[in-house]
Amino acid sequence: MALSIIAIILSYLLGSISFSVVLAKLLKGIDIRQHGSGNAGATNTLRILGKGPAILVLILDVLKGVAAIGLGKWLGGDNEWIPALCGISAIIGHNWPLYFHFRGGKGIATTIGVMVTMSFLPALYAGIVAILLIVLTRYVSLGSLVFVALTPVFLAILGNTGPIFWTSLIICLFAFWRHRSNITKIVQGRENKIGSGGPKGG
Ligand code: G3P
Repeated sequence: MALSIIAIILSYLLGSISFSVVLAKLLKGIDIRQHGSGNAGATNTLRILGKGPAILVLILDVLKGVAAIGLGKWLGGDNEWIPALCGISAIIGHNWPLYFHFRGGKGIATTIGVMVTMSFLPALYAGIVAILLIVLTRYVSLGSLVFVALTPVFLAILGNTGPIFWTSLIICLFAFWRHRSNITKIVQGRENKIGSGGPKGG
């Protein structure tokens, strides 16, 4: 039990490492949360710092999710809920990071790491639909939302209604909550399209 709690706390601390904030500070001496959409994530890194740093942030943020699940499996024994809770904990850390005044990202890259590690096929199917949608609309936020919404659907279709299914529903709620401003902007036709320069209206 103690080891499981340690794994969950460590996952939060790991998730709290905001790579976009660190990289923007190192490369340009800026706080990325004051620029572009104000989000501490790979999409905003692409806008502000360009492709290379964005890919690096994406990989590192995905790896936070992968590592959290690994930690949960290692320290949590046979209890399937522990890696699931570690995944949620890493996403909470990414969204509300301890080291950066609790102002972080929207959790999608870390969610990808969590979902791909815990249930590869549903994440893959949801990911394919999301990528197609991003290519067609150039709205990364829309693709992100479709990814988190479809993952539980594919899990259910494939017969998995265990801890990872409930985890994916909780993660989906987090993602929709964090994308409130993106949803408003998509509805109003003001959402920033990938590759079209800066965001409209922050
Ligand atoms: O994963 C974040 C993405 O869905 C939206 O990012 O910067 O356009 O708000 P952003």
